[in-house]
Amino acid sequence: MRVLVSGGAGYIGSHTVLALLDAGHDVVVVDDFSNSKPTVQGRLEALSGKHVPFHAFDLTDADKTEQLFVHEQIDAVIHFAGFKAVGESVSEPLRYYQNNLDATFSLLRAMQRSGVSKFVFSSSATVYGENAPVPYQEDYEYLSASSPYGQTKVVIERVLSDVAAVHEGWKVALLRYFNPVGAHPSGQIGEDPQGIPNNLMPFIAQVAVGRRERLTVFGDDYPTADGTCERDYIHVMDLAEGHVAALEHLGDLAEPVRAFNLGTGTGTSVLQMLHAFERATGKELPYEVGPRRAGDLAAFWADPARANTELGWRATRTIDEICADTWRWQSANPQGYPGA
Ligand code: UFG
Repeated sequence: MRVLVSGGAGYIGSHTVLALLDAGHDVVVVDDFSNSKPTVQGRLEALSGKHVPFHAFDLTDADKTEQLFVHEQIDAVIHFAGFKAVGESVSEPLRYYQNNLDATFSLLRAMQRSGVSKFVFSSSATVYGENAPVPYQEDYEYLSASSPYGQTKVVIERVLSDVAAVHEGWKVALLRYFNPVGAHPSGQIGEDPQGIPNNLMPFIAQVAVGRRERLTVFGDDYPTADGTCERDYIHVMDLAEGHVAALEHLGDLAEPVRAFNLGTGTGTSVLQMLHAFERATGKELPYEVGPRRAGDLAAFWADPARANTELGWRATRTIDEICADTWRWQSANPQGYPGA
């Protein structure tokens, strides 16, 4: 298939581009580089040995999006592009709703006009909200996220369900990610957050490489084994392969729209992750315990059974591989990708 990957220069997008090429698909990327660097293109081409066409524009520009579908032959879309900082979305909700929804509307309209009906959406475990039983299962209702960022995922899932219900032949996979971490084993591509990392793994990696003094553990009085929060950390290469599996199984879906958890099914605590990273680097990493972070849940992980059975996919990489691959990326690229 020839796949349009929106946000293909970003963290999960770039790894998915490689997994698609590796599986024999062709890729076209659209990315406005608002949260990624153009140097990613060269790295993807060097790693794959293939030319990867990039289109640099903002998908909220509906005319440009439509033109893209006129000029490029596209069989399916994997949609990553969107704002994703939870805290920022709380202070700027309108910007988040507008950007994430408008980009999706542009894509869906352009697809409709050009007869493309296969869509894979980058959703999140955040759609399960605060009350879902753990492990999370896809048929849980009622979906509701606690941040405007998460709420854009809930709304877009709903939009996709409504669109696919009335348009003959549409097939949509909603991929609900747990906590994506790790990097390509080459160390050439990885997560490159701008500013102070919001998420645990890039923060630990920046402590290890000397960019940050110490990790602050947000609370150690949760009702978990060691008192720190537990999450389902999934290697980004497993996640990327999950997208390929979803794409290749779209035709088999019994329903026009189907949600899949992409997780491992196992929880790992903040301190377990820190200690695994110490093993990968051979260094002791300084940390302090601070107050809880507003909005954090104590522990959650996926029930990945549906993706295992229906997509023939499962996460196989371990926490130690995650840390080794992250460290390879971070130590080879201490400041992330070089600037534009
Ligand atoms: N944590 C720390 N110190 C840090 C950063 C994080 O202790 O400096 C802890 C958090 O408190 C949490 C755990 O590490 O217990 C994981 O935090 P992340 O920010 O890495 O991940 P979250 O589970 O909070 O966030 C993820 C996704 C979001 C999604 C959210 C809700 O990154 O996109 O889950 O499901 F919205």
